[in-house]
Amino acid sequence: MHFFTYKNNKLYAEDIAVSELVREFGTPLYIYSYATLIRHIRAYEEAFCEVPHIICYAVKANSNLAILSLCAELGIGADIVSGGELFRALKAGIKPFRIVFAGVGKTEQEIEYALKNNILMFNVESEAELYKINEVAKKLKKHACVALRVNPDIDPKTHKYIATGLRTSKFGIPIEKALEYYKLAKSLKNIKIIGIHKHIGSQITDTSAYVEALSKILSLYDKLAKYDVDIEYIDIGGGLGITYKDEEPPLPKDLANALIPLIKSKKGKIIVEPGRSIVGNAGILVTKVLYTKETGSKNFIIVDAGMNDLIRPSLYGSYHEILPVTPDKRQKIVTDIVGPICESGDFLAKDREIEKITPGEHLAVMSAGAYGFSMSSNYNSRPRAAEVLVKGENYALIRKRETYKDLIKNEIIPEDIL
Ligand code: LLP
Repeated sequence: MHFFTYKNNKLYAEDIAVSELVREFGTPLYIYSYATLIRHIRAYEEAFCEVPHIICYAVKANSNLAILSLCAELGIGADIVSGGELFRALKAGIKPFRIVFAGVGKTEQEIEYALKNNILMFNVESEAELYKINEVAKKLKKHACVALRVNPDIDPKTHKYIATGLRTSKFGIPIEKALEYYKLAKSLKNIKIIGIHKHIGSQITDTSAYVEALSKILSLYDKLAKYDVDIEYIDIGGGLGITYKDEEPPLPKDLANALIPLIKSKKGKIIVEPGRSIVGNAGILVTKVLYTKETGSKNFIIVDAGMNDLIRPSLYGSYHEILPVTPDKRQKIVTDIVGPICESGDFLAKDREIEKITPGEHLAVMSAGAYGFSMSSNYNSRPRAAEVLVKGENYALIRKRETYKDLIKNEIIPEDIL
């Protein structure tokens, strides 16, 4: 559910015509809907309200400070994977005691930064990392609170690049080894075990993989009690899918209904780490049609947003619905919609049926709020897009469009060498 709809034959973001925002801010332009964000966050809060829980928004999905500030205001936490994400989360006012830190490659500096800021816990991904966290905590004369990220070897039936809970994936500790590592963690003086974590993948469209993974984790949880390991937090990760085309993913309440019966009798607090399902359908990318081209073998619509702005179609072959900002019931054609980048992999859609569009018009790439701007780059020396947040008929620029100067601001010409 989102708030990007047609009114009088014009695409609106809540109560503002997209064409108006384009006139003011130009393209490519990311537009986010406040009402959609709030609705999704509340849906999670309500879904899990019958058990003690913390919703930790996965910052990687969209890390704009304004969106993180909204999370802070609503009292939710953050799931982070880098020092940079911690910096953003803290800047936005997210409480450290609601921040969990995952990722296979935490550096010493990142661990130190997180310890000094008293985050809730590290989701530890290897034995070596456990030793490293213990060492840094000892240096700081602190105790590091940790969960072990357990890899339950479950196939979430999603794109292979975003499946993370299979035996062959780089993430987590193999479930067969988990007990051994918990014992090890217990023996380390500056480590305090407080949780168990899993995250099996992203864009998951049914609850069965969650149920299977959680059941495996909970049998480990039961074993841990026998070894006097006290688990206060059961972190089930994120990963709930959204509708890009015709998927019918479970809602947060369906996920909660499937998982709460398994967890209710346990005394741990549940942590959920949604990213895409909060912000994915809360954002669109608006782009201008520059040219149309018919080569005899194919039709192309060439737009001013490229794979540097939204890499998902190029990287995963992902489908994003593409809608005219001002539709006109014209004849439909089948066409590729491509960006200006010098790569054949630079496309937003392949063989898409869309009404005949003319240069100068605008298209909206739907469901672009998650892993859109946050994965964007300056490839081909293209300044990154502007971002706008809409609330009813109000709106605000939440990230300025980059300039050419921004592109080179960290570069140095070494005059004594050249
Ligand atoms: N927790 C952990 C530990 C994660 O690694 C992730 C995502 C999440 C939570 C949030 O998952 P979500 O609820 O957003 O599915 N770039 C890809 C998605 C990569 C997801 C990485 N991890 C895409 O555009 O589809």
